[in-house]
Amino acid sequence: MSYLPALQKTDPEIRDLIIGEEKREWNTIRLIPSENYASSAVLEASGSVLTNKYSEGYPGKRYYGGQEFTDKIETIAIERAKKAFGMDHANVQPYSGSPANMAVYRAVLQQGETIMGLTLPHGGHLTHGWKVNFSGKIYHSAPYELDPQTEMLNYDAIWKLAKEVKPKIIVAGYTAYPRTIHWEKFREICDDVGAVFHADISHITGLILGGAHPSPFPAADTGITTSHKSLRGPRGALIVCKAQYAQAVDKAIMPGLQGGPHNQTTAAIAVAFKEAEKPEFKAYAGQIVKNAKALADRLLTHKFRLISGGTDNHLILMETTKSKGISGKDASVALEKAGIEANMNTIPFDDSPPANPAGIRIGTPCVTSRGMKEAEMAKIGDWMNEAVTHATDENALARIKGEVEELCKSFPCPGIDPMHWA
Ligand SMILES: Cc1ncc(COP(=O)(O)O)c(C=O)c1O
Repeated sequence: MSYLPALQKTDPEIRDLIIGEEKREWNTIRLIPSENYASSAVLEASGSVLTNKYSEGYPGKRYYGGQEFTDKIETIAIERAKKAFGMDHANVQPYSGSPANMAVYRAVLQQGETIMGLTLPHGGHLTHGWKVNFSGKIYHSAPYELDPQTEMLNYDAIWKLAKEVKPKIIVAGYTAYPRTIHWEKFREICDDVGAVFHADISHITGLILGGAHPSPFPAADTGITTSHKSLRGPRGALIVCKAQYAQAVDKAIMPGLQGGPHNQTTAAIAVAFKEAEKPEFKAYAGQIVKNAKALADRLLTHKFRLISGGTDNHLILMETTKSKGISGKDASVALEKAGIEANMNTIPFDDSPPANPAGIRIGTPCVTSRGMKEAEMAKIGDWMNEAVTHATDENALARIKGEVEELCKSFPCPGIDPMHWA
């Protein structure tokens, strides 16, 4: 029988595009640090009949009948999330990371109160108070910055700012920060100024669960994570919090912000937590960091300038404009032609606009999910250097792309089976 037979009959155009994406994900070296390969089990749960069911409310307290199975599924997901993070309460319904942050703010802040997160050009997320985002419009944003010398968090400077602006909430956890976060420092600062400590661990959840980065819990009062990054789950998010915030968080999600939860995602989140409990996941998380360090070392030998000088986690942020004479945008285009996916990114203390920033951001969750190790990272570093130094040489980029595809053949992607394309 052919692959995706129902789609072949109903909508072959979409089927072909899905298969095209499968091939692209198989044949490229994906270094976007917020992406991953969900397992077949996660994909099965995400693509199940649970998509048919409306479940507004929470297990045991729904506005619709027929919740015999969805109540059990959501309860399992909640219990696994609570256990994984050692927190009192979990809400697994947020549609994604941004609404999860919004729900936390709605639970603990009033309009106009002060939110203190890392400014976006230094690695914070849009939803941490950036001016064009709801978080910078509804609330008063007083962002902190990285230290200009070390390009790392400066806890004394953050503390000083917190004393001045007296935030209602301090957000720690980032989109483009390559270093270990010292959560206990944020706890001290929040205790001193009477702020809620919110940890957004979207990027590093997998590392935390696998023991490769310290956990912010139970020090943080509230936390969110997306489920589709290093956790390797479906596209979604969840909130965890201390008991005192539980009711406000649940109300903020439903009825405050959302209607029916996406049950298929809830089930897949539960599956992702089960997978993360396995010993292999610990090895996976450790290897993500080893790979990032190996790739960083190789890039340094090629004279790329890495923000903060290196990495402690899954992510590398590098400046290309001055160190390599090519903008982040042009570098990412050249890399894509060479079969390597990265994303252009702003660099701390550089005024280049987000649409044409001075560097790129890369990470190792995807390549580690394929079983690649330090030896492959060295090769990738060499290819990256070649691609950005020959960015206008279409032949060189095409040759690298061929070599990348050859390497990719030996490293299967979870959730994708090339036999299907035969
Ligand atoms: C730290 C952080 N928080 C929140 C989000 C938002 O997640 P989503 O894109 O699912 O809304 C992201 C996404 O990249 C992120 O990096």
